[in-house]
Amino acid sequence: MRISQQSIQQITQTADIVEVVSDFVTLKKRGANYAALSPFTNEKSASFYVSPSKQIFKCFSTTKGGDAIKFVMELDKLTYVEALKYLAKKYNIEIIYDKVENEDLDKAAQSERDSLYIIMEYAKNYYKNILVNHPDGKAIGKTYFTERGINDKTITDFELGFALDGWDNLIKDAEKNQFSLELLQKSGVIKNSENNKTFDFFRNRVMYPIHNLTGKTIALAGRILGSDKGTAKYLNSPETDLFKKSEILYGLFQAKQSIRSMDVCLLVEGYMDVLSLYQAGITNAVASAGTALTESQIKLIARYTKNVTVLYDGDKAGIKAAIRSTDLLLDSGLNIKVLIFPDGEDPDSYVNKVGSTEFINFLEKNSKDFISFKTEILLKDVSGDPIKKAEVIHEIVISISKIRDDIQRTLYLKMCSQMLDIDEQVIVSEYNKIKLGEIKKKQVEADKNEQLPTDDQIKENENSKDSLIFLYPLDSNSLAEQEIVRILLEYAEEQMDEDKNVCQFLFSYLENIQFEDPVFLQIIEVFKTELKENKLPTLNYFINFPDKIFEERLTTLLTDKHNLSDVWFDKYQIYVPKKDNDRTGLVNKSLARLNFEKLRKRLKENDIKLRNVSFENIEETDNLLQENIVVKQYQQMYAKELGMIISG
Ligand code: CTP
Ligand code: MN
Repeated sequence: MRISQQSIQQITQTADIVEVVSDFVTLKKRGANYAALSPFTNEKSASFYVSPSKQIFKCFSTTKGGDAIKFVMELDKLTYVEALKYLAKKYNIEIIYDKVENEDLDKAAQSERDSLYIIMEYAKNYYKNILVNHPDGKAIGKTYFTERGINDKTITDFELGFALDGWDNLIKDAEKNQFSLELLQKSGVIKNSENNKTFDFFRNRVMYPIHNLTGKTIALAGRILGSDKGTAKYLNSPETDLFKKSEILYGLFQAKQSIRSMDVCLLVEGYMDVLSLYQAGITNAVASAGTALTESQIKLIARYTKNVTVLYDGDKAGIKAAIRSTDLLLDSGLNIKVLIFPDGEDPDSYVNKVGSTEFINFLEKNSKDFISFKTEILLKDVSGDPIKKAEVIHEIVISISKIRDDIQRTLYLKMCSQMLDIDEQVIVSEYNKIKLGEIKKKQVEADKNEQLPTDDQIKENENSKDSLIFLYPLDSNSLAEQEIVRILLEYAEEQMDEDKNVCQFLFSYLENIQFEDPVFLQIIEVFKTELKENKLPTLNYFINFPDKIFEERLTTLLTDKHNLSDVWFDKYQIYVPKKDNDRTGLVNKSLARLNFEKLRKRLKENDIKLRNVSFENIEETDNLLQENIVVKQYQQMYAKELGMIISG
């Protein structure tokens, strides 16, 4: 059978790219479009765009692009038909099939992935059914869950099940339903013994299906009922084409919407932690399921939120695990908090002990930002030993150096200097040492390779150079230019006063100003040309610009860096740029800043000229000095507007 053209059309017309993508990625409005971190890479700045008007997505880090169907195909490695089916399900569209002659409906003829999906779906349903309907399932499995406080809704939502005691319960049922034993073996739910007899892998265990992001079962885990030390507490079905343990987070399918709407993900260790929290109404938790957190898992979280709170047991191992994971999480540009439970408790036991209100209270009160957490833990061991203290500083600054966001990194360095009671200058130079070390190491490696560096390597190298901190801004002129460009890109079409939008307003002042940064200059020129015809360039226009540097700068520019909380200001009296609420103020300030910088430059140039003019040339000298006086007057004016005090 083949999906009819009519159905394909209905699906393509109904599926909205923004809705489809939003199920997997958090989109932020950028003018007429949406931007996000690419779900296909580990990127730190948003280079994934969705255009609602064109109904397409485009990912610049991978050059992937296309419509809603293409997106689902790429993301979940689905075939065209699978993608259509997924969308049809999402939009409740009933698929109409065309009859095709000579069709081979044999299950074995389907692709292996398809077959595995079918088998896993079957096995999951089998165990699920036993738990609800079989007398032993009810008496043993259901009782176990009830005793652990798990109710029917949670059982349904997570499709929990029960595997009966015995060697061939599943095998018999599967044979009755004509499933191939070979496939059952491939999926890992049945096994072959030494003397070539098949047997059920899961016996006398409560069953937890592991779902992928679209809710399909890709693996199963089974827990023994008691605390028998002789057998493994958990059995997990083996890795298959569908299931890579290190690329999955347990509970993410059920938690993803909550994670997005609460904008924070709770990271726990175990299946039970996820279930108990879910049932207590804390629906944004996922589990790394016993393994150390991996890059791919972090990438999964980053699709939905940038904020992660790591919940770990209060024992020594838990704390060690917490420190290890936080470093990895930091590396990926996420904001991390850590919550440690009282000794002997895990999230499951604790929420069952204190209830959900108290649990949330505990979470809010005791979650620590990771730097404070790590600093506190490490400082405990210092006790006045200066060598140890130096080690601690080094250790913490290494962690800070992994933070991607410039502003946050700077703030953490500041905070670290306060917590450790060390001069900020010392901390910053420690930081720069670490960064320079990284750069050197990379260079040595590149030299050893005796190959020309790839574009990526060059880019990365430049990035690390950029991340060195100078206590003074490197080039205040470029910063001022950048701010104008950012305002244009984000707010050009907004009304500034009765007859001008932000773009028109800005350009009425920009006429005599020369932009120097080549990228910004290019953007300004495009706006200027469009404005002449009373139009505005769309973000799409810039996105589709062929220039690589351009693209990179643009995406960095549009990435939201203003996400720091007020706490920073209250606690450390540090200035943090706020969201641009006061548009008029923002535009005027940025113009003043730009003018100020241009005048500063003019003064500098004049100084150089003055030094080179011979004394005899009194007229020229006089002109320059006169000009300087005027320039300085203007500069004072702008300085005042900017709330600056400048001398001389
Ligand atoms: N785990 C596993 N295999 C094991 C032990 C643990 O896969 N033999 C994974 C499971 O995902 C488990 C997690 O590690 O959920 C945490 O292990 P543990 O703390 O021992 O179990 P809990 O989740 O606390 O389970 P329970 O409360 O049911 O004992
Ligand atoms: Mn537990």
